[in-house]
Amino acid sequence: MKVEFKENDPGKEKCDALIIIVTKEDLAHGKGTKPKSSDLRMLLGDRTDQVEEAFSAGGFEGDRGQQLVQFSLFKSRTVIFVGTGERSHLTAESLRRAAASGIRTAKSQKSSSASISFLNSTAEQVSDYEVVYSIVEGALLGAYRFDKYLTEEKKKIRLESLVVLSEDVKSSIGKKAARDAELLCDAVYFARDLSNAPASEMYPETLADSAVRMARKFGLKATVLDEKKIRALRMGGLLAVSSGSARPPRFVVLEYHGASKSDGLYAIVGKGITFDSGGISLKPAAGMGEMKMDMSGAAAVFGTMQAIASLKLPVNVVGIVPACENLPGGSAYKPGDVVTTMSGKTIEVDNTDAEGRVILSDGLFYAQKYKPKAIIDLATLTGACVVALGHHATGMLGTADDVMSGLKDAGEKTYERVWQLPIFEEYEKQIKSDIADVKNTGGRWAGTITAALFLKKFIGNFPWVHLDIAGTAMLEEPNDYSPKGGSGVGVRLLTQFFKQASS
Ligand code: BES
Ligand code: MN
Ligand code: ZN
Repeated sequence: MKVEFKENDPGKEKCDALIIIVTKEDLAHGKGTKPKSSDLRMLLGDRTDQVEEAFSAGGFEGDRGQQLVQFSLFKSRTVIFVGTGERSHLTAESLRRAAASGIRTAKSQKSSSASISFLNSTAEQVSDYEVVYSIVEGALLGAYRFDKYLTEEKKKIRLESLVVLSEDVKSSIGKKAARDAELLCDAVYFARDLSNAPASEMYPETLADSAVRMARKFGLKATVLDEKKIRALRMGGLLAVSSGSARPPRFVVLEYHGASKSDGLYAIVGKGITFDSGGISLKPAAGMGEMKMDMSGAAAVFGTMQAIASLKLPVNVVGIVPACENLPGGSAYKPGDVVTTMSGKTIEVDNTDAEGRVILSDGLFYAQKYKPKAIIDLATLTGACVVALGHHATGMLGTADDVMSGLKDAGEKTYERVWQLPIFEEYEKQIKSDIADVKNTGGRWAGTITAALFLKKFIGNFPWVHLDIAGTAMLEEPNDYSPKGGSGVGVRLLTQFFKQASS
């Protein structure tokens, strides 16, 4: 999709759909609703009366989430008014949501070009840059659909062009904001596409290929370890989980150097289970298909690497992904097995469905070799996290308090919010094994915490944060600007974190 910022009058823009974001203050309330602000009156000109009637008849008051659609007002076929509530309550998030809902309506009317204007876009709490950035972000993220496998053209409603219009924002600022948001959203799209791809198509080798292709395009260094190398490095965790599948594992390392070496480097590690059947501890049939998205941590890592490279952020980051399938084949690993990981530490396998932590043991240990400032891992690790937090917050646990507070801020800004859970040492006895260094399950209670404590055994003394994205990466229902399915969560969060960390 083509994205542009123009300093134009919205009434003059030719497009299929014109989306006009208004606040309550743009309207006069009382007996019926009248267009009030000079911007709105100027825009509507001699159509003001017509719109006033429509506002009153439709009960449109500019409330957050309200919409009113008008046809043939201007050059555009459809005009979609979207309310954002009171101007004093305006946030980046309310703009994202308004833009997304407007775009969805535009798409439902089969528009292939859309323009968005936020009237009188100077707001106290949100900078001009942020206004344009958030509108583009909301519009693009809201427009996403995984339509690769829809063969009937009519089901593929494609938006070809998006224009943000404002006469108040300086052109150089507007253009930069639109461009930055577009680059970010491309990276989120990449992550969503990886997650949503069926496991028949997205398996360890193809996941690694996708990462390498992206790396080439964006100038990242890429290394892929094949099974032979994985064996040579004695990554026993990854090999154990992979052993039930006919597809060989891969271990992917991407490097981005945007700052001087002395700045140090962050390691981000993503769980890359391209399908999780549970293995010998087989999952129930209902909903198992969702487990094609069990590589969403990997998708977040790859998407973030793309975002920081395309935005040229001044940071150094290594992205690490152990990837395999968890299947109950004839040579599959079994409950009762003891696995020796790359670190030398041993794991007693109590349940083959707790496979994420088993492959991450090698991923996290490998990350130590870079002597990172901090290790951040992302994984669809536990159903318990979905029970605790549902789909609106990512579970966060770890030892690096400064990184966690940075992530909290980044979460508020991007609305990919995180919520911290404790890792008190008292929980640790739940993962004690009688025959190995650690056991891969921790019993019924506090499953997210015991999983994190398991991971902690493999991070050495490095500052570390674990993000359990089981609830936020795979959506059962659409939210404001993510459709059902892979949300690409983590990309915007980490990119924002790295922006903060480098400023
Ligand atoms: N990939 C799942 C976790 C998951 C569940 C993600 C639901 C998203 C939605 C993970 O590998 C898993 O199966 N975890 C088990 C661990 C248990 C066996 C200790 C779980 O949460 O049930
Ligand atoms: Mn599992
Ligand atoms: Zn899993």
